[in-house]
Amino acid sequence: MKKFYITTPIYYVNDRPHIGHAYTTIAADVLARFHRLKGNEVFFLTGTDEHGAKVAQSADQEHKEVKAFCDENARLFKDSWANLDISHDKFIRTTDPEHEQAVKKFMSNLQDQGAVYEGTYEGLYCTGCEKFITEKELVGGLCPDHKKPPESLKEKNYFFKLKDFLPDVAKMIAANEIIIEPAGRRNEVLGLIKQGLDDFSVSRESVKWGIPLPFDPGQVIYVWVEALQNYITAIGYGRDDQEFSKWWPADIHLMAKDIIKFHAIFWPALLIAAGLKPPRKIFAHGFFSFDGQKMSKSLGNVIDPNALVEEYGSDATRYLLLTQFPFGQDGDIKADLFEEKYNADLANGLGNLVARISNMIEKFLDGQVLLKKDQRIKEAGEIEQNILDLKFHEAFVSIWEVIGRANQTIDQEKPWELAKKDQARLEKVLTDLAQVTVNVADLLQSLMPKTAKKIKSQFLAEKIKKQKPLFPRAET
Ligand code: MSP
Repeated sequence: MKKFYITTPIYYVNDRPHIGHAYTTIAADVLARFHRLKGNEVFFLTGTDEHGAKVAQSADQEHKEVKAFCDENARLFKDSWANLDISHDKFIRTTDPEHEQAVKKFMSNLQDQGAVYEGTYEGLYCTGCEKFITEKELVGGLCPDHKKPPESLKEKNYFFKLKDFLPDVAKMIAANEIIIEPAGRRNEVLGLIKQGLDDFSVSRESVKWGIPLPFDPGQVIYVWVEALQNYITAIGYGRDDQEFSKWWPADIHLMAKDIIKFHAIFWPALLIAAGLKPPRKIFAHGFFSFDGQKMSKSLGNVIDPNALVEEYGSDATRYLLLTQFPFGQDGDIKADLFEEKYNADLANGLGNLVARISNMIEKFLDGQVLLKKDQRIKEAGEIEQNILDLKFHEAFVSIWEVIGRANQTIDQEKPWELAKKDQARLEKVLTDLAQVTVNVADLLQSLMPKTAKKIKSQFLAEKIKKQKPLFPRAET
């Protein structure tokens, strides 16, 4: 049995969960479930990032006490993940006392190693990004992501000696000791390191909502530096050495490309400085726009994943999000396509297949077919490999080819006619179809867990009976 430790980013609680967050979390869930099915011991971590100026300002704007505001929004993330059948083993909040204590230990450790020094930061800061930003990065004087002017700061900070650790990080990436995927992202990261990066601040003076720096409590730990540590504090760093060494290093940190620099450069450097191993793999998927536009609060085009679950169900939402475009690439989500794809692929494709076959087996064979336990379809190995490689889109396409062929077989063989003239052939055709359906359900276990379970219990029952439609047609 192998251990498999997988994480998502911890999401800022200034925002409600939207389908961008859901996308990463669903992908992580698929991988976590897949590894569990393969018999591996899995730890799947997700959670919320709650400190820093951005969250404090959002709470202020809503006239709420900041911790109460965090509690409320963290709850929304938890509820959304429950709605989407996310099977995380732990939901960490950076306001958890356990996290705060372990972070202080890590910071003291960095200090003991001589990896931080006191200095003055004079420059720009974008609160929307929670990031120190340079003139060069601005577009027309504005942060390109938030379209807002950054703040000018001059304050005492503690700095991390990033430059001392960059050569090690670069070497480990080049040797694939730290794997960065997809390949384009790896090149991007190596390019960034080559250009050279400056030491960065690990604390802030003017921010109040955060964890005090243990060796200078007038400073608050920079929210990103603290947030990254969730990946180790969640599994016992500074608290339970045995548990920590069981899970660390992470087998995969999953995220979108927006935060790759923090994960692939800053985080490994911090870990190496503290004498810890860097993560095994960092996978940064693409970003999606919605109907051609960036999703944003101000444009009002942010889709709540719960609304999709309400309309289509959790498995259909997982399907609709993961089949938009290949995982890893950027893409556009088109609202109109949701219903069209739901009806074509789920109601007519898989749903109809299951309904037709179970109906005919009930009617013509008294619900009885003899299925083989260890039979798989010939594509199974390739499909599983695609899931393991995070090629969810490809996996779905192959599964839906199998579904399409099975529906065609029904049309060609016309079992309702065979029932009148060729009982042996009827039995063979329906048995083969039932077998394929169960195999499809097996392959769907990590991707669409509820559906897979329903199909399996229907087809592995003593008598196969028609059930309620898996995906009732959607009409607007
Ligand atoms: N709090 C930091 C992460 C700290 S991790 C130690 C943060 N939070 S966030 O709420 O902004 O989440 C960013 C992540 O949300 C992305 O990396 C991605 O996983 C997901 N996405 C948010 N919007 C998305 C899209 N439009 N498209 C794809 N993924 C999106 O950054």
